[in-house]
Formats: sequence, structure tokens, C-alpha cells
Amino acid sequence: TKGAAMVTAVASRLQAQRKQIDKVLALFRLTQEQLVGIRNKMRVEFEYGLKKDTHPLATVKMLPTYVCGMPDGTEKGKFLALDLGGTNFRVLLVKIRSGRRSVRMYNKIFAIPLEIMQGTGEELFDHIVQCIADFLDYMGLKGAQLPLGFTFSFPCRQASIDKGTLIEWTKGFKATDCEGEDVVDMLREAIKRRNEFDLDIVAVVNDTVGTMMTCGYEDSNCEVGLIAGTGSNMCYMEEMRNIELVEGDEGKMCINTEWGGFGDNGCLDDIHTQYDKEVDEGSLNPGKQRYEKMTSGMYLGEIVRQILIDLTKQGLLFRGQISERLRTRGIFETKFLSQIESDRLALLQVRRILQQLGLDSTCEDSIVVKEVCGAVSRRAAQLYGAGLAAIVEKRREDQGLEHMRITVGVDGTLYKLHPHFSQILRETVKELAPQCDVMFMLSEDGSGKGAALITAVAKRLQQAQRD
Ligand code: GLC
Repeated sequence: TKGAAMVTAVASRLQAQRKQIDKVLALFRLTQEQLVGIRNKMRVEFEYGLKKDTHPLATVKMLPTYVCGMPDGTEKGKFLALDLGGTNFRVLLVKIRSGRRSVRMYNKIFAIPLEIMQGTGEELFDHIVQCIADFLDYMGLKGAQLPLGFTFSFPCRQASIDKGTLIEWTKGFKATDCEGEDVVDMLREAIKRRNEFDLDIVAVVNDTVGTMMTCGYEDSNCEVGLIAGTGSNMCYMEEMRNIELVEGDEGKMCINTEWGGFGDNGCLDDIHTQYDKEVDEGSLNPGKQRYEKMTSGMYLGEIVRQILIDLTKQGLLFRGQISERLRTRGIFETKFLSQIESDRLALLQVRRILQQLGLDSTCEDSIVVKEVCGAVSRRAAQLYGAGLAAIVEKRREDQGLEHMRITVGVDGTLYKLHPHFSQILRETVKELAPQCDVMFMLSEDGSGKGAALITAVAKRLQQAQRD
């Protein structure tokens, strides 16, 4: 009959559509073999970054941080900390009490408007100092001369703990006249320009390092710091004898890997999809930070958006209509991805979230959107896992151990908010580094607290040197 023929036609059309959708999703599926390959390539890049000859051209920069020791519990005092480079800019007052290993913190969040993130360096640092002034006022600390730790979450070349030359901006920043400059000097000059207070800037710290330190304060086995947030990065404790860029063979030093640049030499091209290319081309730093762009919160939503645009163009979503909203960059924040992928959410609620984003969806649409989000975030977690497996395996081999236990301090919105990310990350590490027992420790406010701890350690060492 006519009715039955129509049903069959609809069914076969649906089947064809399903095939097209699956074809796109399959691009994001990584086999075990591919993951092993990625782990091995990451390992090669680590060695390039550490060796003097290959370092200048290395895409994973392996930057020495001059952080050589963990807090020993004797640190104490009041410290200011700044945290620039994540979701928010924060100013913190951190009180460390010795002996009991207890830390008290007060902080204030400040917005950094887009025109300041992408204006001039002077404007950016003047704004930062303005925020410090507000905070000191608010805390009733106006005349205080406190030691300050600066968490600056961008790649910096350091020659000591209180010097950091910005190599290049990453993520959403592009203020002019900063690249190639010492950010501590820039901060000092901005403080001088304001001529209202004096601060003793003791340390400049990457957020990964702060995170590792914070967790290291409680667990001395913590020798890796991981950020899965707006950006993607990892640091770890390396044997001095393996760090060719720094004199000396004794002890260890923390290395900021800046692994976000992994793949910038083309070594990930085989898994780079057309959607990754579109995200890269639309970013502030095309061709740079490829691994970061496949893994971190600032970009995952953008990958999803590119896929949704393509599926809509193919007539597989949103009735084939590309809305103005869907064309808008940055609509899918980590927060939304996390909500959409939550298992507790009924599809109707997924539709409501899409509605909030200005996307009118049918029930079928919402299923597809959820699948797309799942594929993109799963690949991100697996890529993180491959990178992390590379470092723990390296540490195990370097120490000549059959089996190794290690703790990884973690921070970042993607790790904290996403319903499946941490689980997939853990499973991947287990598969790719079976001889390592990796414990994950969530850092509570890692970057701020860590900067203060590092400042405290640096102060203690300064004092010891003077005495
Ligand atoms: C970017 C920065 C890096 C930082 C990471 C996480 O990759 O280059 O320094 O650690 O984001 O915030």
C-alpha cells in the first residue's frame, strides 16, 4: 500500500542520515593503536624540548621553572597572589601557618574586559594594578608591603624564579608589546606608575606549577601538575641531570612542558579533522597550540559548533537552517557541554539548554547534539590520557623502576565540571601506562594557593642565604 511505502521511504532516509552522522562521529574515535602512537610521539617531543640542540625548534618547550623543592611545612606568613590566565583574574591574600599546614585565603574575582585582554600591554598591567589596589583597599591593607606571587599562565622563559619573559600569548590574550618582555618588570613598572603602594614580587609561576605545589603540600608523592581548563598544560619534577638548559646535575627541578604546542610540527595531522582546522583558523593564534585546541575548554565547544554547522549544512540537523546563533563564536562554554552530557539530564532538558543558547531543536536534534559533544570530549580526555601516560612512563623509566606510584595534582573547569572527562582520562592512563599507579588529586584553588606557597619557599630560601 501507499502508506507502507511511505514508511519504508522515511525509514531508509533516516538510515541514510544516521550513516552520515556516524561518519562524522567516527573521525573523533581513536583506536588503542593511535593512542599508543600519540603517547610515543609526546615522549619524543619531551626529549626534544629538554635537549639543548633540539630545544630551539621544539614544539613542546619544556621550560625550566626554577622551582626545585616542595614546601616543607615551615613556611609561614601573609602573601599576596595574583592569578591571571584562567577563566577569571583573581587577587588573593593567603595566610600560611607553619606546623599545622593550614592555609587561609581571601580572594576577589575581577573581570578582564576583552578590549583589555587584546589592547596594549600597558593597559593590561595598569588594569591589573588597579585591581590589586581595589583588593588592598577592600581588605584594609592599603599600606602593607607584602611579598607577592604571580601566577601567570602563559609560556615564559625563566632565568630565575622572579623573572619570566613571555614567549607568546596563548588562549584568549593578545595584548601588544608583551611578547619578549619580562612580565615581572611590566608589573613592577605598572606599580611604579600608580605610585600608591610597593610590593615585593618574589615569584612568577605557571598555573600547573601552582597546582602541583598545592597538592604537594599535602602529598609528597605529587610530582605532576595538570590543568584541564580554558587551556591545556602539564608540569612535572625532572632530574636536573636531564635538563640541559640549566647548569648543575643535583636534585630536581619542575619543568613546565607547555604541551599545548604538541602537534604544531604536523605530527598530529593524521587525527586533525576539518573541524579542528576550522577552529584553528578562527583562533587568535592559527597554526599554534594544536593539542590545546583539541583538548581544552576554550576550544571544545568551538569544535562542537563547527560539527553542528556542517551537519546542518548536510541537512541532518536543525531542519537544515543555520541560525545566526550557530554562527556565533564561543556559544558553547565548558559549562554547557558539561550540562548537555550529564546522564541525569532528560532529553527535554537538553533541548531546553539548546533553547537557552538560542538553538531551536527537535528531540532528534538534541540526541545528535549530545552525541557530538560526547565524541569531542571523549577524544579530548583520551588525548590528555596519552600525554599523561607519556610523562609517568618517562619518570618510571628514568628512575629505573619496575612499578611506580605517583600523584597528579589537577585543576581546571573541564576536569572539575565535566561528567565523564576525568573518568575517561583515568582509564586511558591506566591502559597506556599499566606499570604506573597514578593517583589524581583535585587541587583546591591550586594556582592561587600554589603561588603563595612557592613565594613562601622562595622567601625562606632567600632568608637562609642571607643568614
Ligand atoms: C595555556 C598556557 C599555559 C597554561 C595553560 C593552562 O596552555 O600556555 O601556560 O598552563 O594554558 O592554563
